Amino acid sequence: MDDRTPLLEVRNVSKYFGSVIALKDISMTVLPGEVMCLLGDNGAGKSTLIKILSGVYQPDEGDYLVEGQPVKFGSPREALARGIATVYQDLAMIPLMSISRNFFLGSEPTIQIGPIRRYDVTKADRITREELAKMGIMVRDTDQAVGTLSGGERQSVAIARAVYFGAKVLILDEPTAALGVKEAGVVLRYIAQARARGLGVIFITHNVHHAYPIGDRFTILNRGRSYGTFTKAEMSRDDLVRMMAGGEELEELGHELEEFARSDAAAAAKRERTEGRAFEAEAASLGADGKRDS
Ligand SMILES: Nc1ncnc2c1ncn2[C@@H]1O[C@H](COP(=O)(O)OP(=O)(O)OP(=O)(O)O)[C@@H](O)[C@H]1O
Ligand SMILES: [Mg+2]
Repeated sequence: MDDRTPLLEVRNVSKYFGSVIALKDISMTVLPGEVMCLLGDNGAGKSTLIKILSGVYQPDEGDYLVEGQPVKFGSPREALARGIATVYQDLAMIPLMSISRNFFLGSEPTIQIGPIRRYDVTKADRITREELAKMGIMVRDTDQAVGTLSGGERQSVAIARAVYFGAKVLILDEPTAALGVKEAGVVLRYIAQARARGLGVIFITHNVHHAYPIGDRFTILNRGRSYGTFTKAEMSRDDLVRMMAGGEELEELGHELEEFARSDAAAAAKRERTEGRAFEAEAASLGADGKRDS
């Protein structure tokens, strides 16, 4: 495999749910050491595409290749075995358990003491601390419950875990959606770290301002179809915003809003006139002393 063989590739992939065309003719690649941003509005097909990539769904049409070989994944476990790790927004973590426990969830290191094999706390703590440090994350105490971490820290632990367990491709479904500016920055930094370690990252987001600084290439979905893939050199941030919103639709919305504003203003003016007349009538019916004529 040479350096430019995509880690992942889909060719003309389509997915139908009954009469709903969730994806139509989508082609996309992810190279080692790049961040591919998958952008698109609600219902564009982003989640459906990553579910195909992560082995939850099978495409109805088209091909899926991993490191140049055609694959048909029957489950997320099969995709994971090929190094494709997906971090979902509602992370599979247990809030009451410690950071290190969560780090190893399902693959705990064990130690043999006499006839008994048990969870190796010391080793788990050490590896967790080391791996997090490699990503630049300093935890005070790996014993701390995951539930007490901030949203950004939790995402970071999930990313570090995927990297440690040998992910080649990291798929992140809206990891920054629920985060504040600073926290989102933290997660974006870990995405950059993962890229620096040679992983291919697929970063799904609505937010062009999160995507643009970190993304190398951008694939834009709109109602199940792809507008194509663009490098950063080909696209300014404004181009991307316009394209994502569907430029024409936004323009149409602009006209509509102007129309609303105009009819609003007209209605207000009319109201004023009527109210003005009513006020004058009221004033006229009052005597000079402010008492009502009778
Ligand atoms: N299991 C399903 N059954 C029927 N229709 C589905 C199913 N999953 C997705 N769809 C439809 O496919 C289209 C794409 O949905 P998808 O969830 O992939 O969009 P998305 O880009 O992830 O949107 P969002 O940003 O809101 O998460 C939508 O019209 C959706 O209603
Ligand atoms: Mg989605």
